[in-house]
Amino acid sequence: MARLELLRAHNLRAFEDIELAPDRRVNLISGHNGAGKTTLLEAIYLLSRGRSFRGSDLRQVIAHGEASASIGSTAAVGEARRQIGLTIAGRSARTRLDGAEGARRPEIARLLPVLNLDARLMDLVDRGPERRRLLLNWVTFHVEPGFNSSWRRFQRALRQRNASLREGARANAIAAWDGEFCRAAREMETLRRIVVERLRPRFAKIAETLTGMPADWDYHPGWPRDDALEDILKAGLDGDCKQRNTRFGPQRADLILRLESRRARYIASRGQQKLLASSLMLAAAEVLEAAGANRPVLLADEPLVELDAGHGQELLKAFVRRGAQLFVAAVDPAPYRQQIDVQEIRLKEGALV
Ligand SMILES: Nc1ncnc2c1ncn2[C@@H]1O[C@H](COP(=O)(O)OP(=O)(O)OP(=O)(O)O)[C@@H](O)[C@H]1O
Ligand SMILES: [Mg+2]
Repeated sequence: MARLELLRAHNLRAFEDIELAPDRRVNLISGHNGAGKTTLLEAIYLLSRGRSFRGSDLRQVIAHGEASASIGSTAAVGEARRQIGLTIAGRSARTRLDGAEGARRPEIARLLPVLNLDARLMDLVDRGPERRRLLLNWVTFHVEPGFNSSWRRFQRALRQRNASLREGARANAIAAWDGEFCRAAREMETLRRIVVERLRPRFAKIAETLTGMPADWDYHPGWPRDDALEDILKAGLDGDCKQRNTRFGPQRADLILRLESRRARYIASRGQQKLLASSLMLAAAEVLEAAGANRPVLLADEPLVELDAGHGQELLKAFVRRGAQLFVAAVDPAPYRQQIDVQEIRLKEGALV
């Protein structure tokens, strides 16, 4: 169980100085457009992940005219109290853990896992595979200790192989990376597959409750299952050279979501897409907990937008049932207040009201 007891931000976008003591359960952040609601969610995400969900250039989160931004927190992690902080200067971010500089990212991520149901949550269903793959990697990272090192080795081999392809290197120079590429890929695939099967029944159950329809997915590892990856790389070398890119491997894995056996991407309505994406996130949170990892903090930006009252109510119930600490941002707090117990955080022009 991880939860924030205190959160501070300084020179973060429109926040000059803000400090708050979140509730252990549901925190409802309200305020007009531009008040700083999403920035508050972003602050929590930044603490956990060291990057923003609003673009990769960290300079954008620093308040205009300032040289740096900082975020500080006290988190309850199991029985312990940990001080987690982040300072952003230029494009880079430095972490602080219990007063000491330079804690490693994976360590912080494990202490304070955060799942973000952002305003573009539907991308998880109706866009390309990248966000689904990121989520799958994230869960696997949290529940399978070996994944991080396999993933790193794989990324290195993939980068080197692709660099050789771009440079038009000779075939044996490109193939020199295949051994490491395939070893790391097989390790990743073994761990991912375990996680996919743990996620599947949970996702199906939550999605059925939320949408009232059977939902499932086909998992694709990123290369044809029946053939050895080594052989596929060899046979595909000419094509890779033409495209200057490695076309097969776990960098191409995907979960093809299905609603009533049809591809959700093509048939799900906006509201159904949102419910399916939320189901995937909530299933991810359950898998972490079942594996004994810290229960993630949930962030949700306008989760009721595009949902009718009945489906919205089911979604809020599903959030609250998890028992996780939840931060919900909404322009209009009324429908949330009516349905669940909340602590309200009201913002106006980057400050608490
Ligand atoms: N680097 C920055 N420096 C100063 N202000 C910024 C910076 N980046 C964004 N802002 C401003 O911060 C304010 C808060 O933005 P935020 O996205 O958190 O608002 P919000 O409450 O989520 O609004 P909405 O309801 O429209 O989603 C906005 O007015 C935005 O223009
Ligand atoms: Mg917002």
